[in-house]
Amino acid sequence: MAGLRRAAYSRRVTTDAPEPDIIPAPGVVPDALFADPRLAVCYDTFDGDRDDLDHYEAILGELDARTVVDVGCGTGALAVRLAAAGLTVTGVDPALASLDVARTKPAADQVRWIHGTAEDLPTLGADAAVMTGNVAQVFVTDDAWSATLRGIRGALREGGTFVVESRRPERRAWEEWQQEAEEQIWEVSGVGRVVGRPVRFEVDLPLVTFADEFTFADGTTVTSTSTLRFRSELELRTSLGAAGFRVEEIRQAPDRIGREFVVIARAV
Ligand SMILES: C[S@@+](CC[C@H](N)C(=O)[O-])C[C@H]1O[C@@H](n2cnc3c(N)ncnc32)[C@H](O)[C@@H]1O
Repeated sequence: MAGLRRAAYSRRVTTDAPEPDIIPAPGVVPDALFADPRLAVCYDTFDGDRDDLDHYEAILGELDARTVVDVGCGTGALAVRLAAAGLTVTGVDPALASLDVARTKPAADQVRWIHGTAEDLPTLGADAAVMTGNVAQVFVTDDAWSATLRGIRGALREGGTFVVESRRPERRAWEEWQQEAEEQIWEVSGVGRVVGRPVRFEVDLPLVTFADEFTFADGTTVTSTSTLRFRSELELRTSLGAAGFRVEEIRQAPDRIGREFVVIARAV
């Protein structure tokens, strides 16, 4: 399992919710990796060192952004880091179990957490919005992606910036994932030993679907299925343009040279 940063989106959602700020739109069901409480508490261990986030913090510094929305914030790795640095941060995610993990972190009380999607965001007049961890690829249909972009545009001030990463399809990352697919074992603090096994892999471009089975020390098993959409540079540019953004620059991710588009788009 080539690191779970590839992970995405599928079909299970928790119901044991504390009071959410917003209830996610019907039909939005994040994949078990994010929405099942047993897996959400493991996510940070699965994902390992988050040096990928350094680049995003640096870009927000360059932009002099003071108010930031972290869309698909998951367990809040970036959101709490930005809040600790003094930024005003809103983190939004439809996976309540991931938000519950985020809320336990230092500086979490300085973040506004919204249980929902970009479409649920209020008019925040934010300086910037970010999407890390390839969240952009969980939106499988054009409609879902367009609605998300419109939601983000609505949360930004005029001239605000959206920073988003998405894997370059020409790099064909799925071929490596398929070759590397093997059993993996983690020791998760407070949980114990977790064994992950790939159980399904399908490529039907531009979609790649995979499932992993996770077995816990007590013998219980949870399966998480994800489908990711690989968009070309042209598709990203066109969809951003249609949602009211102007693409200013496409950078490399310093920790994944040649693999990612890091798009910097201005709200116009
Ligand atoms: C790979 S995780 C990345 C989390 C976080 N951005 C990070 O870098 O650690 C993908 C996240 O996208 C979230 N997600 C799934 N569907 C979403 C949607 N419709 N809107 C916003 N986020 C969504 C998932 O719940 C999950 O937390």
